[in-house]
Formats: sequence, C-alpha cells, structure tokens
Amino acid sequence: MNTKIVKIDKENIDKDQIRMLGRIISDGGLVAFPTETVYGLGANAYNDEAVANIYKAKGRPQDNPLIVHFCDVESVYDAVCEVSDKAKKLFFAFWPGPLTVILKKSDKISKTVTAGLDTVALRVPEDKVACELIRAAGVPIAAPSANLSGKPSPTTARHVISDMSGRIDAIIDAHDCKVGLESTVIDMSGEIPTILRPGGITHEELLKVLGEVKIDEHILKEVEKNEAPKCPGMKYKHYAPDADVTVVEGDLEKVREKIKDLLCENKKKRVGVITYGDYKYDADLVINTGKNNKEYAKNLFRVLREFDENNIDIVFAEFKFDIGYGLAVKNRLYKASGNKVILV
Ligand code: TXA
Ligand code: MG
Repeated sequence: MNTKIVKIDKENIDKDQIRMLGRIISDGGLVAFPTETVYGLGANAYNDEAVANIYKAKGRPQDNPLIVHFCDVESVYDAVCEVSDKAKKLFFAFWPGPLTVILKKSDKISKTVTAGLDTVALRVPEDKVACELIRAAGVPIAAPSANLSGKPSPTTARHVISDMSGRIDAIIDAHDCKVGLESTVIDMSGEIPTILRPGGITHEELLKVLGEVKIDEHILKEVEKNEAPKCPGMKYKHYAPDADVTVVEGDLEKVREKIKDLLCENKKKRVGVITYGDYKYDADLVINTGKNNKEYAKNLFRVLREFDENNIDIVFAEFKFDIGYGLAVKNRLYKASGNKVILV
C-alpha cells in the first residue's frame, strides 16, 4: 500500500489537507495523527471493517479494545448509556486532555471497537490537529497508539513513518507529542473509580476531583496466565525495544553504584544507560531523560527507540520513584523490561 505522508503545521492548519484526511477516515481508511500524548492510528469508529483493519496494521491482539476519540464533550454522550455525576466531574476537569474514561457503552459503539466488552474507552484530545481531523471526519475516531504492537508508542512522526509506512493510507507528519506518554485510563463503570493505566493525568490530580480513586493491582505486576485483567492491554508485552532492558530502582546514589558494577560485568556487549541529568557512565550510549519523572515520561519512548537505532544490546535504566509522574514512568519501565527490576 502506498502511504501518503502529509505535512501539517499546527499553527497554520491547511484546511484542504485536513478535509482530504478526514474524508479518508469517513470513507473507511486509516490515518495516523498526532495527539498531545502519543501518535494515534485512527479509523471511523462506526465502520467495523475499518476498525478491524487497525488490528491488522498494528498486529494487535483481537481482544485488546480501542479508545474512541471525540472532538468535544457533547458528542461523547451518544456513545454511552449513562454518565454519572462523578464522570461528569472528570469531563469538566480534564477534557480536552490526556484522560481516557471507561463507561458502559451505548448501541452506537460496536463490539469490534470494544473487543466484545460492554464498556467503551472515551477521550477528547486537546491537540489541535487531532481535533480538526475528528471534526473533518464527521465521526468519532477509534485509535490505539500508532506503533507496531509491542513496540514503544510513537511520540514523533518519524517513529510512525518507521512503523507504519506501507501499512496504512496516510500519516500526518506534524509536531512532537507534548506529554510523550499515553493518557491515563480510568474505569468509571464500577463502584469505585479505578486507574487501569497511569499516564498524562496523575493519581493525585484525580484524587482532588473524585476523593476516592483506586489503582489497579496489575499496573506494576505481571499478569498471570489464567488472569483476566480489567484492562486487556495489561496482558501483553509492551513498550519493548529490541534491546534488553533492566531497571535499577532506589536511592540515586546507590542506583548509580549498582549500574557501574553492571557495566563492568557487561563489557563485551553494546551497553546503554538511561540517566536523570547528564551523569557520566563508561558505556556505549548514555541518554539523559531529563531531571525529573515528568521529563522522563516525556522522553522515555523516544529514548527507548534511540537505543535500537544505535544497535545497543542491553540498557540499564536509572529509576527513582516519587508521586506524580513516578507511577506512569514505573509502569512503562517495568513493562519495557519485562519486569526485570533490581531494587537497591
Ligand atoms: O494517549 C492515548 O491513550 C493514546 C492516544 C492515541 O489517544 N492511545 C492509546 O491507545 O494509548 P492504546 O490502544 O495503545 O491503549 C489503550 C488501552 C489498552 O491497554 C486497552 O486495553 C485499554 O486502553 N482499553 C480500551 N478500552 C477499554 C475498555 N473498555 N475497558 C478496559 N480497558 C480498555
Ligand atoms: Mg498502545
């Protein structure tokens, strides 16, 4: 398939181009587009065949449901049975923005989108290009992250072009993603609001609005073979570069001593390190992800891909937990490493 690469400037959006891209979606095609979190791979949420093609293009397991994206809060009401007062509070506080809310679905949303579940994941993105695309399509857009299944999510158009060229109709070549890691997924379909995936909105921010918010146990632990987690995506290997990743977690001074030992033990391999700030190591590639976990979150997926671009065999990742973005970074690092974690 010949994939159109269409440059769009968010400060000066070309209306004709967006109309053309919107038509591809409404006619049943696939278009990758930027959001404030990561790039998405979009299809008309009301067209089952188009939605099924998303799974094929990504190599995504059939039982992993998709998020449906809307251009405004009012349109979301069509897709759900009812909206509790608590859910309304979330819409008001965090939309447009990096929060995905799970509610009981209406008949308008098919089970191809929800992978057979009777709930649907809803999001109103803030990104201008994403909103204009949804508006131009005239339908909600079902979209997972625009990476090949299992790979780190794409935070620049270059990542999408590398994973999706030849597999989909068009890729919007636009700005880098502001948040750099996916939306927070919160389940509002049960008694107690529950975070199923930490992301762009923190637990603390959600607590301020809702009072009580649980964190699903599977966020940091491996899913056993016979378990059916609430968020089907938790079952699968995620965010993994080709390089083998090990997380070294704890007090930074001890973390750095431990990584130095590990570097000595692995001299024969091509070794990379992810650091906070520009700490020096004797390794083949050392990448600074920023000074705190917010910056770590923004840069992590890009950094993971950079190790593969440089043929690194093993990566040691510094990690120090804190509130705020710490949980989201920890979740992505644990998944990327297949839960290979050394606590110091
Ligand atoms: O930031 C984001 O959320 C990006 C952008 C493109 O919006 N999208 C994204 O989609 O990360 P995806 O498909 O890579 O991750 C969606 C996650 C999956 O883990 C999926 O299992 C979960 O949301 N999910 C979707 N619908 C669900 C539902 N009804 N119940 C529970 N989990 C659901
Ligand atoms: Mg994804």
